[in-house]
Amino acid sequence: MADFAGLIQKKRDGGEHTGEELSQLVSGFMCGDMPDYQMSAWLMAVVFRGLTPAETLALNDAEVASGERLDLGVLGRPVVDKHSTGGVGDKVTMVLAPLVASCGVIFGKMSGRGLGHTGGTIDKLESIPGFVTEMGPERFRELLGTVGVCVAGQSSRLAPADGRIYALRDVTATVDSNPLVAASIMSKKIASGAAAVVMDVKMGRGAFIRNRGQAAGVFSLMKMIGEARGIAVRGIISPMDAPLGRAVGNALEVAEAVEALRGEGPPDLMAVVRKLAVLSLESSDAGLSGDAAGELLDQRLAEGAALAKFGEWVEAQGGDTAFIDNPGALPQASHVLTVRADRSGFVGVVDALEVGLAARDLGAGRLKKGDRVDSAVGVRIETVAGDEVSAGDLLASVHASSPESGAAAAARVAAAISIALVPPEAGWRLVEL
Ligand code: URA
Repeated sequence: MADFAGLIQKKRDGGEHTGEELSQLVSGFMCGDMPDYQMSAWLMAVVFRGLTPAETLALNDAEVASGERLDLGVLGRPVVDKHSTGGVGDKVTMVLAPLVASCGVIFGKMSGRGLGHTGGTIDKLESIPGFVTEMGPERFRELLGTVGVCVAGQSSRLAPADGRIYALRDVTATVDSNPLVAASIMSKKIASGAAAVVMDVKMGRGAFIRNRGQAAGVFSLMKMIGEARGIAVRGIISPMDAPLGRAVGNALEVAEAVEALRGEGPPDLMAVVRKLAVLSLESSDAGLSGDAAGELLDQRLAEGAALAKFGEWVEAQGGDTAFIDNPGALPQASHVLTVRADRSGFVGVVDALEVGLAARDLGAGRLKKGDRVDSAVGVRIETVAGDEVSAGDLLASVHASSPESGAAAAARVAAAISIALVPPEAGWRLVEL
């Protein structure tokens, strides 16, 4: 058995591990030779001391090697995957996936459930009646081949070491480490057979990445890992100070994704979708880039092809498509409360973290892993920073399962939206990495 205490000490004192040592740490943890408390201590040493690029690559390798690796080569075409580091109101995948698939790109993604104040795509998709996200690798591959798009729950057979290490990091304050984050995210992408990944690195009050250095740092590590494994990694940093779009909450976000696919999406959401869609086309075998890619995307959206592909995708994964023409077919909250401006002025900040926490407390998210989410509840923000409002104007609506939870959320949302006498300075826009 490896000397785990010695390896912890080595990292604590700033030493550099060999690839063999990192493999021993991961395999020792997986077989039970290294208990949780030793892995936690090692992870904390990494948070303080970091990992070199070579160590990061070796950790990623060990995480991938801990499970199966999905072979998508039989499709004969590259599969494009997408990852977001997590935000509030982030329904990008539900718009991006059918949009790029309608342009001929094969889009496949294994996705997680939401934790904390940020939602997960799987929870959102499961608010569609009948939609199935649990499936084996064979079905995932089959849907990619026939429909060209599939979003499934993360398989526990792929990179299982990452799943167990992440669960430990979540409860030991060791999530915040660029090399651990990069190795973790890329282990799932590599194991699920992606040929290219487009990354949406979210930065701001509602994200766990708060500054540009951290965002660029984690992206360059993911790109480095991708390059070493022959996977193209492109990406953007996008703002997460305010919720993305208007809806925050599972079914509410599905309804907004349909609006976006009808060409009626809010500008901030569509800017992120369009940029990631161009990167997806450029990373695929579509043979288009820049303006030509953008023009095809605009055309697919305008002619309804992206919405049609969305319907095809939902049906293929077992969902009832009635909600596409009738949003009332999605789960509906029993109580809808309004939040109104208490004075006239200009909307300053719409605080993503506070809105996300309000939605979570309504039941749209989880306090701990395994909690059930309520598909119907959430918040719809009806204003954006810079809007001029008069006292009494509608700022937001709160969709709740009871008057009490609704009132608490409405108070929190009201406090999250500031109104000032002067308009705020323009916020920053997304940047390509
Ligand atoms: N998401 C992941 O999958 N892993 C991390 O380490 C952080 C966010």
